[in-house]
Amino acid sequence: MLQIQDIAKQEGQTVTLNGWVESKRTGGKVAFVTLRDGSGFVECIFSLESVGEETLENAKRLTQESSVQITGKVVLNEKQEFGTEIHATGLKIYQIAAEYPISRKEHGVDFLMNNRHLWLRSRRQWAVLRIRNRVKFAIHQFFQENGFVQTDAPLLTGNACEGTTTLFETEYYEKDVAYLSQSGQLYAEAIAMALGKVYTFGPTFRAERSSTPRHLSEFWMIEPEMAFYDLEMDMELIEAFVKYIVNAVYADCKTELAILERDTILFENINKPFPRITYSDAVKIIQGKMTWNGRNAIDTLRTQLAKVEADLQAKNAEIAETENLLEKGGISKGQVNYFQNKIDRLKVEARKLEDKSKEIPEWIEASLSFPDGEDFGSPQEKALTSLFDTPVMVYKWPRAIKAFYMKRYKDDPEFVKGVDLLAPEGFGEIVGGSERETDLQILVDAINHHNLPMEAFEWYLDLRRFGSVPHAGFGLGFERVVMWLTGVSHIRETIPFPRYYGRLFP
Ligand code: 4AD
Repeated sequence: MLQIQDIAKQEGQTVTLNGWVESKRTGGKVAFVTLRDGSGFVECIFSLESVGEETLENAKRLTQESSVQITGKVVLNEKQEFGTEIHATGLKIYQIAAEYPISRKEHGVDFLMNNRHLWLRSRRQWAVLRIRNRVKFAIHQFFQENGFVQTDAPLLTGNACEGTTTLFETEYYEKDVAYLSQSGQLYAEAIAMALGKVYTFGPTFRAERSSTPRHLSEFWMIEPEMAFYDLEMDMELIEAFVKYIVNAVYADCKTELAILERDTILFENINKPFPRITYSDAVKIIQGKMTWNGRNAIDTLRTQLAKVEADLQAKNAEIAETENLLEKGGISKGQVNYFQNKIDRLKVEARKLEDKSKEIPEWIEASLSFPDGEDFGSPQEKALTSLFDTPVMVYKWPRAIKAFYMKRYKDDPEFVKGVDLLAPEGFGEIVGGSERETDLQILVDAINHHNLPMEAFEWYLDLRRFGSVPHAGFGLGFERVVMWLTGVSHIRETIPFPRYYGRLFP
């Protein structure tokens, strides 16, 4: 079956396409139907001359999301958004769709989320899910090309990996409790001792009771684990891996990025080296006490604020001007519609700027007063990443705020060999990784210190008893990366059916 994405190769041929009606315009002797089939979009032109009266009338009856089969000739036309159009000669209707709840006008997010099963068909969602697919493929390509073996960790587990506060608990037959996996890491460590370089790619679960734009309760994580790797090698791998994914999306998803109106500056900068900063330096930068390449993070945020305020003023002026034009009257119905749509769009943009103009002062405040030793929140990540146009690595973290398995520095035992990768443009942490502790006694002490049940970790401790070697790994948050690359403002748009605090349906 021919897909729309391949029709340009059939120029001049008559083809048959199956799909859904995205939109329709009609004139007296003509109907323009935009068909989507999941692979792309194409405008199909039904003229009285080519199809006759009955088919033209049928084309005019088509409602949004009606399912159809259209036959016609492929014509290349530069003026078309995707470069081709179909001069229709035939139409078969599978179903005339009932009135579709999602139209071109602005809908509230709750409404769209309740209709997620239908919202997925919208162009932007289509673009996001296509990019998700490309990222997933790039991940496998990268690891398969670099000598890694794909493997799987269990999803029902008896022990916590990332602390006990975000565990989903479930009954495991009559006697036992099982947790939904927060991370496959501990199992990946065991498998790496069998296969060398491995990676898992599976769903993970965190009962995060926070409604932030970047937390899901169910998300996918890629977790490579490598025997004989130290933190340095881990960071090299993270950098090469992230560059590979971003380059793949830029090379192959131009249409999708255009639909999403994604600023491509990120893709243009991605091949520069990623800066590496210790946690302690990062804290000073965040507090505005240290500069990086002569730039101060707090000053940078203040400059951003001034720009947002100026943009907001300009937007409000444009809204007022357009409203004036409408009030004056004496314009056609088409123009009234056009201006009304323009005002709606400008108001949405103005609201975003207004939110930002309130947020930035909060980030500045929370960064200036940030206490050394704590974990970064979103304001601190925004301050730090404001200095860079590539992702930035923060390493050498305080032991107290990191997981039990991270390796301590011998000469600085209050710090561990952990690394986080923060995406630019304020998208936050996309990778968390570390070199793993190999000292049996230090691990035993850490498990006790974190109040974790020792018996659940006995098997893990065996890895330090039998042929223990330096090893390292990391976890990349799949939806976080899709969010960053697509530029969507909420992580719920990066997965077909998101699960997050307060949402289980559809
Ligand atoms: O930093 P985290 O908690 O690291 C681990 O789980 C390690 N065991 C990984 C490893 O070394 N093998 O999580 C890794 C990444 C984060 O950087 C973030 O991108 C993503 O997973 N992540 C989430 N994504 C969406 N929703 C959530 N609630 C997330 N929590 C973490």
